[in-house]
Amino acid sequence: MDGTLSQNDLSHVVEADKAHVWHHLIQHKPFETKDPNIIVEGKGMRVWNQAGKEHLDAVSGGVWTVNVGYGRESIANAVRDQLLKLNYFAGSAGSIPGALFAEKLIEKMPGQSRVYYCNSGSEANEKGFKMVRQIAHKRHGGKKHKILYRDRDYHGTTIAALSAGGQDERGAQYGPYTPGFVRVPHCLEYRAADQGAPTENYGEWAANQIEEVILREGPDTVGALCLEPVTAGGGVITPPEGYWPRVQEICRKYDILLHIDEVVCGVGRTGTWFGYQQYGIEPDMVTMAKGVASGYAAIACLTTTEAVFEMFKDDASDPMNYFRDISTFGGCTAGPAAALENLRIIEEENLLGNCDAMGAYMLDRLSELQDKHAVIGQVRGKGLFLGAELVADRDTRAPAVEAQVQAVVGDCMGQGVIIGATNRSVPGFNNTLCFSPALIATRDDIDHIIEAVDGALGRVFG
Ligand SMILES: Cc1ncc(COP(=O)(O)O)c(C=O)c1O
Repeated sequence: MDGTLSQNDLSHVVEADKAHVWHHLIQHKPFETKDPNIIVEGKGMRVWNQAGKEHLDAVSGGVWTVNVGYGRESIANAVRDQLLKLNYFAGSAGSIPGALFAEKLIEKMPGQSRVYYCNSGSEANEKGFKMVRQIAHKRHGGKKHKILYRDRDYHGTTIAALSAGGQDERGAQYGPYTPGFVRVPHCLEYRAADQGAPTENYGEWAANQIEEVILREGPDTVGALCLEPVTAGGGVITPPEGYWPRVQEICRKYDILLHIDEVVCGVGRTGTWFGYQQYGIEPDMVTMAKGVASGYAAIACLTTTEAVFEMFKDDASDPMNYFRDISTFGGCTAGPAAALENLRIIEEENLLGNCDAMGAYMLDRLSELQDKHAVIGQVRGKGLFLGAELVADRDTRAPAVEAQVQAVVGDCMGQGVIIGATNRSVPGFNNTLCFSPALIATRDDIDHIIEAVDGALGRVFG
């Protein structure tokens, strides 16, 4: 740490935090007898806490966000310059960084054409849901309004986003939910037997389950299908062979819009600009948030094809005929200013190439761990977006006990390495260790992470 705050200052910070801050996604009772972790400073792949302890961050800010690493002066400068020129104006008007980032972003997304700005992944997904509903009202007498979502996927924290949530522990106790959201089965091949799936052509089978739901609901009632390209918090689920082509075919057959949630995969995480580009998918809508500006400013985007956009501007004589939506902070200019510089860094430093190469290296190293530790049932992932599913028994694939999975995370933390695990997600299946180092990760960083996990697995599982 640079020592700008004295130890005394920090003890006050800890007390102020304990007295007044309501942290996200964590129980607070333990903070009556121990201190919360306060992250004070970050540089590159590393962060320091209130005790000055250094940690290697293998989860990019905890939730797949800081893709270009900490302490980027050029992003800070771009944001500062923009804030002094113009910090904000409502999104009914344009801004210089808003226009320039939209142009750059769309260059990376052939087939997409329009960018709608807002400020969180949940919000971007809700914008997509609202568009689907409005299209249903404008074109289909309100009938084609249902939105399909998948078991184990997550699309955000608001009530409507939770209504589209396939992680029952996230949603529990927050109902009743918004009507018109319908679940389709997951596509985790490792758990295919639990679904009663055949052993051959699992990908096609899993996609066909979506068609069955559409036929059951009535294709004329289904407006959209919302999916993560690679499921994140539901267990780092890479799609099985043959899945995506069939999903695309089904959407076209029944005139169903394909909404791809790139909140985690977007802007480099899998080694391509977007996760959907790994699988040749042609989406109608794409949402993104976390990696768009690597957490240097709050920004989320919904992009659409020109065909979707056209549906909202075809009759200017009707005063209701446009997307009647606003996001106040979607007009903050810090977001696109940071996003433009973030994108420039990814290009200039070839971070997609590094993500691809280091992702392959890390997957190999995780496979070595799997050979050594019977508790690792499967390793999977794409680019620097990886998971290791822990099982109590490799034959039955019974999930490892959650407290032990968390003990591995805690042991790594003790060693100064921050890893993640699926958490309050799928009941009984919070058993996947999650790894998502920044796209600047080196072989040394990855070796360091693997060593920590190796030691932790040995200590926790013997
Ligand atoms: C796939 C996915 N979609 C949406 C969200 C919600 O994003 P936010 O927390 O910015 O609202 C998340 C958050 O983790 C996510 O993982």
